[in-house]
Amino acid sequence: MNQVKAAVFASGAGSNFQAMIDAKGLPCDIALLICDEEDAPVIDKAERQGIPAYVFQPETYSSKSDYEQAILQQLSEHDIEWIFLAGYMRIIGPGLLQLYGGRILNIHPSLLPNYPGLDAIGQALQSGASRTGVTVHYVDAGIDTGPIIMQETVPILPSDTRETLTERIHCAEHGLYIQAINHVIKGVE
Ligand code: GRF
Repeated sequence: MNQVKAAVFASGAGSNFQAMIDAKGLPCDIALLICDEEDAPVIDKAERQGIPAYVFQPETYSSKSDYEQAILQQLSEHDIEWIFLAGYMRIIGPGLLQLYGGRILNIHPSLLPNYPGLDAIGQALQSGASRTGVTVHYVDAGIDTGPIIMQETVPILPSDTRETLTERIHCAEHGLYIQAINHVIKGVE
């Protein structure tokens, strides 16, 4: 058991969450899942691992601030020090940034600053570029704008479809996120 505890925030399939769970020698425990979609497959993945999963739906709170305060309460109860966003489809607000600024990471499926925001893989395919990639960065108040920690290039092949490119990008993401977590927590690559 590590002493450092991390929470993953996710909204969807959870392949990056699963990669963190499966990683050997991760320098922190993935101790909590925060999800904003009650039917997201990532919740089953957490339950199978015995990791507590909490669903917070923003529309059930009177403000974003109240929503984030409810999340902060769980983070505090689980002694969470780091937050890893993995397909969490929301902007992090001032409440979370104030307490966790510099300790929130995000993964994005492009070489930022190229193709920020939604459908980065589709944007790359449409652009006709011969390469795209994956970025892990610190989170700030913007959309995919925080300081970059690590990037990995993924070629776009002439034969690529959205499915084949997405598969190779996900594969790169899973390795890069683990490297970046090791780097920020232990200072190694
Ligand atoms: C990943 O492509 C990530 O870069 C993006 O959302 C996707 C999440 O995939 N932010 P998964 O839920 O981890 O499988």
